[in-house]
Parts: sequence; structure tokens; C-alpha cells
Amino acid sequence: MRMVDIIEKKRDGKELSTEEIQFFVKGYTEGSIPDYQAASLLMAIYFQDMTEKERTDLTMAMVESGDTIDLSAIQGIKCDKHSTGGVGDKVTICLSPMVAACGVPVAKMSGRGLGHTGGTIDKLESIPGFQVELSSGEFIQQVNNIKMAVVSQSGNLTPADKKIYALRDVTGTVPSIPLIASSIMSKKIASGADAIVLDVKVGEGAFMKTVEEAEKLAHAMVKIGNQLGRRTIAILSDMSQPLGYAVGNALEVKEAIEVLKGNGPEDVKELCLTLGSQMVYLSGKAQTLKEARTKVENVLANGKALEVFKTFIASQGGNPSIVDDPTLLPQAKFQVEIPATESGYVEKIIANEIGVAAMILGAGRATKDSEIDLSVGIVINKKVGDYVEKGEPLATIHSNRENINEIKERIYSNIFISNQKVEAPSLIKGIVA
Ligand code: URA
Repeated sequence: MRMVDIIEKKRDGKELSTEEIQFFVKGYTEGSIPDYQAASLLMAIYFQDMTEKERTDLTMAMVESGDTIDLSAIQGIKCDKHSTGGVGDKVTICLSPMVAACGVPVAKMSGRGLGHTGGTIDKLESIPGFQVELSSGEFIQQVNNIKMAVVSQSGNLTPADKKIYALRDVTGTVPSIPLIASSIMSKKIASGADAIVLDVKVGEGAFMKTVEEAEKLAHAMVKIGNQLGRRTIAILSDMSQPLGYAVGNALEVKEAIEVLKGNGPEDVKELCLTLGSQMVYLSGKAQTLKEARTKVENVLANGKALEVFKTFIASQGGNPSIVDDPTLLPQAKFQVEIPATESGYVEKIIANEIGVAAMILGAGRATKDSEIDLSVGIVINKKVGDYVEKGEPLATIHSNRENINEIKERIYSNIFISNQKVEAPSLIKGIVA
């Protein structure tokens, strides 16, 4: 087989065979296919798209490029959740104990943040003592004992995806539905889940800016998951503004705890209930979605989810007292309120830019090797549709440095106030099953 023939075939809009896709993925991962040929094929895919069969073949070829996690020693149907990424997304932290408290085993591998979006693993590391690495035996034992564990991705999962993604990043081929869908699904399949709930973000702060694009991506991923024997559904959720109020690692953990206590921002809570119901339903712990939702609501109301969260923290070496006393989490030296310069309705909050401002403060990584500061970040005080009085705080900056003029400027230029009443955006934009 010759790579040039595969490139020409895709260039001309024809369907690649399973063997041709495997040849490309194996050859590129091993280094026998050079970057320039791989880049050509990726660009041909970008323009010509892939059939459903090709997408599934590409996903499986990437899964087979490395290790896979065997969760068969965990009893029950293992349901994973994946978010396509957004600003202030602390959902894994509060959702996992909710579904675990309903009896669903949560064996979760999460990542670190890069750029303006945070990673669950960094957030969890703001809990004093918390260990994000467990041996596979400890991981499985913990899920069997307390129904949940969240660890940092380890092992050599989907090395082909890592290499192809790095090439896409520098060849203008990231925004391609078949390439994004197979990249995300290969990681989910390799992580061993039986069922998958996808949270596909839509809006200015997300990869997919419109509901139409997000639906296409959701359909592509759901099809791949189902073809590969994993019950998969996708929820499309709003990312036109940050999720919740807090953006920054320890600040987001504190907000997630508030949600588990039955308080916290409505949007985070509602998203957890929506995703959680789907997870409980797909895992067979409820006959209907309605029954699943009632179960999740109950464990939130009766404190069981909060109890599971405390046990989970203690099991991974963290200090569970942070739940009752969040001041035990890392605190920034300075907390500066940013007053509104005019009265009116919040019209728009550019999620990406709030994420970038938090990153500049130190909450996120500009490059893979940047150090992060777990205590800093931004807490917005108002959401789109809220009324704000001139002088009332629009946001609070948590910083370890005194000079935060640039951050203030960024906040002012990315929160827009209107004198007309503004509708709050709907949170759930659709479901793809
Ligand atoms: N996230 C991924 O994991 N892969 C993509 O291609 C895009 C977003």
C-alpha cells in the first residue's frame, strides 16, 4: 500500500477502506509516514469529509494504536461523561458524586487544562493532599468500594490521536467534524466505558459556535459510539458565557461544593441534573429518564452526593474538611471587586476572554509546561440577563499580584451592558441520541 494513493483517493472524494485507514494511522504513529503526507491526508479529509464507516474505522485505528483500560473488574455498567470544553466547567466535580450516589460506578480519567479552559485534574489538585494518580488496582478497588474515582490520564492511551492532533494544530485541520469526533471518541473508547454521555458545548466560548455545527458534531460522535457498542447520547449546552460564576481552580472546587450542598449557580446545577439523569438512565439504574432525574435530585437534596464527595476526597488522600470549611482551599492574597461603570442589563459575557483573563492571572497554562496558580481566578457576579446597578460589583478578581490593570481592562471590555432588557440564554440547546 502507498500513502500517496490513499491521499489521492481521499482528495478525489472516495471512501477509504478499513485497511487504508489502519495503514495511515499505524504508519504515522510509528514514524514511517512523514508529516507532509499525513498533513495532506488530513487536509483532504477536511475538505472531503468522511463517511460514517470511515469515521468509525479511524476511531478504532486510533484506539488500537495504544493501551486500552479494562474496567471489566468493576461491577455494573460504567458510564463516562465528556465535555467538549468550556470556561468555568466544573461539572465533573459535582456530577460524579451525584451519579455515584445513585449507584452508577464512575471510573473517570480526566485531563489537565491548556489555554483558557481548565482541566478537572488541576481543579482537584487544589484540594490539599489530593492524589490524582492511582495504580490501576487501586483505581478499580476504589470504584468498587465507593463507586467513584477520578484520576489523571496515564499509560499510553491513543498515541495516534496525540500525534495527529499535534499535526492538525499546526496545519489548519483542527475544525473538522470527522477528525474532532474520532479524536474525542477514540479516547473515550480506550478509557473503557460501557456508556458515554457527551456534553457538547455551543457558543462563543466553545469549539462549535452554532447549534447547527454542534448538532453535526454530536451526531458524528453518537454514531461512532453506538457503532462501537457503547450506548452514547449527547446534550448540547450553552457556552455563550462562562458556566456558573467561578473561573479558576480552587474557586471552581468551592463552587462545585456549593452545588453539592444544594446551593450554587442554577446553570451548573441544572446541567448536572440533565447529564446525571442520562448517566443514571444509560447505566440501567432507572427505567425512565424521569425516574433517573428524581434519583439524582434526591441524592442532592438528602446530602448523599455530598457524603460520596467527602469519601472520594479522603480515599484519594485529600482533606475532606474543605467541604465544611472552603477557606482550607488555596486562597489568593488579593480580592478586588470590579464595579460596573453603568447601570443596565448584562447583554453578553465573552466566555473565552474571561478564560484568557483568568489564564493571565495564572489559573491556566499558556503552554503545556507553564506552572499554574491554583488559588487565582475570576468570579463574575452577574450572568447574562441580570440587572446591574452602577457601582455594584460586576466581577471579583482573585490575584496574587497587586497590578491587575490588564485584567480589569479585559473584564470591562468583555462584559457588555445594555439599557434594554436582555433574555437569559437557554442552557440546554438540544439532545442527540
Ligand atoms: N478535543 C479533542 O480531544 N480532539 C479534537 O480534535 C478537538 C477537541
